[in-house]
Amino acid sequence: MKFFIDTADIEEIRELAETGLVDGVTTNPSLVAKTGRRFVDIVSEICSIIEGPVSAEVTALDHRGMLAEGRYLAKIAPNVVIKVPLTRDGLRTCRVLSDAGTKVNVTLCFSAAQAILAAKAGASYISPFVGRLDDVGSDGMALIAEICEIYGQYPDFTTEVLVASVRHPIHVVQAAKLGADVATIPPKVLHQMFAHPLTDKGLAAFLEDWRKTGQTVLAE
Ligand code: E4P
Repeated sequence: MKFFIDTADIEEIRELAETGLVDGVTTNPSLVAKTGRRFVDIVSEICSIIEGPVSAEVTALDHRGMLAEGRYLAKIAPNVVIKVPLTRDGLRTCRVLSDAGTKVNVTLCFSAAQAILAAKAGASYISPFVGRLDDVGSDGMALIAEICEIYGQYPDFTTEVLVASVRHPIHVVQAAKLGADVATIPPKVLHQMFAHPLTDKGLAAFLEDWRKTGQTVLAE
């Protein structure tokens, strides 16, 4: 399972990249807006830190506009993945970019029917938003299960399931159990995944016992 981090904050990306656990990054217009910085500069900087896929989202709504933005963004670095919304124009753009060898992440997916369309449009990634579905009383993970099951039946569907709108570590665990290819994880949730009170308690006890021995691990 691959871990992408869901942020446009360069410092967060740098810090988490050091863990060696980050396979890629996803951004969206809201995350970019939070930084107050120029979009193209952010994408370029992220691509200089992360070797894996970096999703950059178009903001045009029509096919011609999306295509122009997608082609422009794709020139920033070879690892840029163009993110398009799951609309008719978005999927039309997905087909053209994918056929030209550019990877596309189809975002704002909320149904299995939409995920089938994205796979047929040649998307490299489909991003179902689990947290936002949970927020409206639906079961986000049930959608992941459905998409994994459907894609699993068609070897010619090469689209990877990228679990998005992750809100807590249990979402990541459930996504892993279902065999999702990728989870894009907000930095806060990735930090939460490290934590367990028994780890802290156990470490404190080990260190206290060790202190009593008067030894050091490295040679005197
Ligand atoms: C990532 O690609 C999505 O844009 C992101 O996960 C959405 O998350 P949110 O629902 O917390 O805004």
